[in-house]
Amino acid sequence: MFTSSSKIGIVGSGAMGNGIAQVAATAGHTVFVYDTNAQALAKAKSQMQQTLSKLVEKQKISTEKAEAIQSHLVYCNTLNELSTCDLIIEAIVEKLEVKQTVFSELEKLCGANTILASNTSSLSITSIASACLHPEKVIGVHFFNPAPLMPLVEIIGGIASDAAIVANCKDLMLAWGKLPVVAKDTPGFIVNRVARPFYSESLRLLEEGIADIATIDWALKEIGGFKMGPFELMDLIGHDVNYVVTETVWKEFYYDPKFKPALTQKRLLEARFLGRKSGRGFYNYAAGSVWPEPTKDVELGKTIVGRVVAMLINEAADAFYYAIASKEDIDLAMTKGVNYPKGLLKWADEIGVKEVLNTLQTLNHLYEEDRYRPSMGLKTTHTFYEY
Ligand SMILES: NC(=O)c1ccc[n+]([C@@H]2O[C@H](COP(=O)([O-])OP(=O)(O)OC[C@H]3O[C@@H](n4cnc5c(N)ncnc54)[C@H](O)[C@@H]3O)[C@@H](O)[C@H]2O)c1
Repeated sequence: MFTSSSKIGIVGSGAMGNGIAQVAATAGHTVFVYDTNAQALAKAKSQMQQTLSKLVEKQKISTEKAEAIQSHLVYCNTLNELSTCDLIIEAIVEKLEVKQTVFSELEKLCGANTILASNTSSLSITSIASACLHPEKVIGVHFFNPAPLMPLVEIIGGIASDAAIVANCKDLMLAWGKLPVVAKDTPGFIVNRVARPFYSESLRLLEEGIADIATIDWALKEIGGFKMGPFELMDLIGHDVNYVVTETVWKEFYYDPKFKPALTQKRLLEARFLGRKSGRGFYNYAAGSVWPEPTKDVELGKTIVGRVVAMLINEAADAFYYAIASKEDIDLAMTKGVNYPKGLLKWADEIGVKEVLNTLQTLNHLYEEDRYRPSMGLKTTHTFYEY
């Protein structure tokens, strides 16, 4: 069991590590932050000061609270300094061998009761834990960016993880004001798997010439109720990040065609048109550039939304069918992790599961592609919830 006096260690002080450190220090824990790169550590420290000052300016927290948070943070030059921590969350570079080395070192440094967690987005927790003598103490605790603002945390037990540790970490996340969901150790966990069709089916509609980017973005926002269109969102996330997640999930699922990446996005990546951060992606972010206008054809818009949402629901139903998470957690993950307007399984009930199944069967018949095969999760249910 963790308490507010449990000591928290953070390895990696980049975007995620620093955000998680802020969350833990705000909850009153003493937090030890370590990074191999001294410059990155110094930057994290000064960014934390700026963030806390801004929160005080905006009257989100008091000066006393900001000082208390600051006093809870210890920036460390050696990994040794984390040896007395009760929970250590790793948020370093997304490379299996590097993570395994860090976990193995941490296990040697720390006491028998220290829990080791990874914030990995795409690596298997089981493979990270395999570097440890006690893999039962290793779990996944996957925050979303920016960690202080995004409420969702996916908690993942590897094949050897102790179920009691998963439950304790879930309680700790609740104490930190987060919304934890529990997911099986499978590629993309919940969010990064179930969200794939939002991008890939939109890219497919574009590649087929069924609609242009502006019209697809318009349809999913205006008719579908999504906060951002898929092309705007891919540009915001960055094609380097978004494409790599898609490719990883596809490879990890043994090249299942439903996760196949799109060449259109790969070309953007090759051209280094990474989206907003490079000034150009699907849209041009240079000052004065004129953006394409959507056609605003409502019938076409409904077709676009019907197809993308059916594919999303199919993936959510599949995750449920294969017991990756509970239906409530799958719905919570998509509304709180990526701001979907509704939980996808709830949405399926609203549309009618049979209707969603019909859409997929029609696409499957038309294209004769495995990509459109309906999940057993849709074929075997009439409604996901009882009313
Ligand atoms: N950025 C996101 O949106 C996001 C969201 C969820 C999860 N993640 C995951 O979180 C992790 C970190 O991502 P990030 O975006 O914060 O990366 P980042 O590049 O911003 O930060 C990583 C930090 O780790 C440090 N580092 C590298 N190797 C190290 C080592 N051996 N020991 C200690 N420090 C080391 C680097 O110096 C760097 O400061 C990755 O596993 C990533 O997949 C990222």
